[in-house]
Amino acid sequence: MAKLEVNVDHVATLRQARLIDEPDPVTAAVLAELGGADGIIVHLREDRRHIQDRDLTLLRQTVKTRLNLEMAATPEMIGIACQTKPDMVTLVPEKRAELTTEGGLDVANHQAHLQEAVRTLKAAGILVSLFVDPQPQQIQAAAAIGADYVELHTGTYAEAASEVEAEKLFEELLAAAAHARQLGLVVKAGHGLNYRNIKRFRGRKEFAEYSIGHSIISRAVYVGLERAVREMIALING
Ligand code: PXP
Repeated sequence: MAKLEVNVDHVATLRQARLIDEPDPVTAAVLAELGGADGIIVHLREDRRHIQDRDLTLLRQTVKTRLNLEMAATPEMIGIACQTKPDMVTLVPEKRAELTTEGGLDVANHQAHLQEAVRTLKAAGILVSLFVDPQPQQIQAAAAIGADYVELHTGTYAEAASEVEAEKLFEELLAAAAHARQLGLVVKAGHGLNYRNIKRFRGRKEFAEYSIGHSIISRAVYVGLERAVREMIALING
């Protein structure tokens, strides 16, 4: 059975729209776990546009499954991670002007810097995942610098203009996942996955875990978070 980690950033986005204290991503995490989530993800951004430091501290105390902190490999974030000790860190590229993470890390061209970050995080007892595009050179570099997991960027697949294009991009994801597994990495997939485009992944052994946020939180507005999580798990595992 593949695992589902739920990203609750967008609950915080709604809260920050009013700069008040609700809705609370900490409460959302409890409900996602009740719905069967295997982990909770938050992205603490440099500009703190949604998740706040207080959220991370409370989530560390309350999450019963696994807490996955998405972050840029900056000295500030590495310091926060080593202090808070999430179960896993997912390193992502971060640009201030982007609406959401726009692509994978260029591990191949920043090996030394990222290797140092991976080493520091692992020494603190934290599992490390690298968010990468499904390209052989990025996967090889992720394995070479000692990552435990790779999360393959599914954003391009999610935005495919046609079913033919989506099928081709899905085959690329499958090949990338097989490559990563051969190198001993655990493979996750994430970004842009929703209740429609997840169907190709159903039952695929290549992917151990999924990281999904926006589509689940959007559905939760209508049906509630527990149900939205359950419905996604049913699509992933059948
Ligand atoms: N994985 C990574 C590395 C991300 O940056 C994001 C977005 O925060 C997600 C997964 C979740 O993407 P979405 O919100 O589109 O499901």
